[in-house]
Amino acid sequence: MAELAKKYTPKSFPHLKGLKGISDGVLESHFKLYEGYVNRTNKLTETLFGLAKEGQASGANPAYAEMTRRLGFEYNGMVLHEYYFGGMKPGGSGNPGAKLKAAAEGSFTSWDVYLADLKAVAAMPGIGWAVTYQDPSNGWLSTHWITLHEINNIAGFRPIVVMDAWEHAFVPDYKPFERAKYVEAYFSNIDWAAAESRLK
Ligand SMILES: [Fe+2]
Repeated sequence: MAELAKKYTPKSFPHLKGLKGISDGVLESHFKLYEGYVNRTNKLTETLFGLAKEGQASGANPAYAEMTRRLGFEYNGMVLHEYYFGGMKPGGSGNPGAKLKAAAEGSFTSWDVYLADLKAVAAMPGIGWAVTYQDPSNGWLSTHWITLHEINNIAGFRPIVVMDAWEHAFVPDYKPFERAKYVEAYFSNIDWAAAESRLK
């Protein structure tokens, strides 16, 4: 039987140094947390494969079942961080491109309404993510609140703008109750060109 070749490598994001309002120290800690998700995704995949190879893959096997339930948490913890880190640059990229602006206007009637909606979701209390997705079947955009990493993700939708709303994304730069300040900082660093490149 072939060895399992599935193994993710943590990506690096050196371009993020010097973000506005998000310190390099918070980012360094955040990269370590992200690497934890990559490592656990690999460990989980390998362990589940090992059980399957031994004929232990069964919903009646609590170890197999609970690790399988955990897959979405770890995988999304890895992938959402890659969208988040890959979607910022120091000082942001100014105005959105024509394609992204048109997609937002087509779905929200205006860019300002789209932004206000995204900010509203980003400011929601709780631990999770604010994500603007594109429905690949019609090109429409919609913004969603993701609880933890895996609850409310929409199957098949493409993540376009991804904001980490866990407290580790902004503490100790800001107090836990100062999410609004972090949201402002995040918005000032959004790389709209990167967001646009994710559109179908
Ligand atoms: Fe995070």
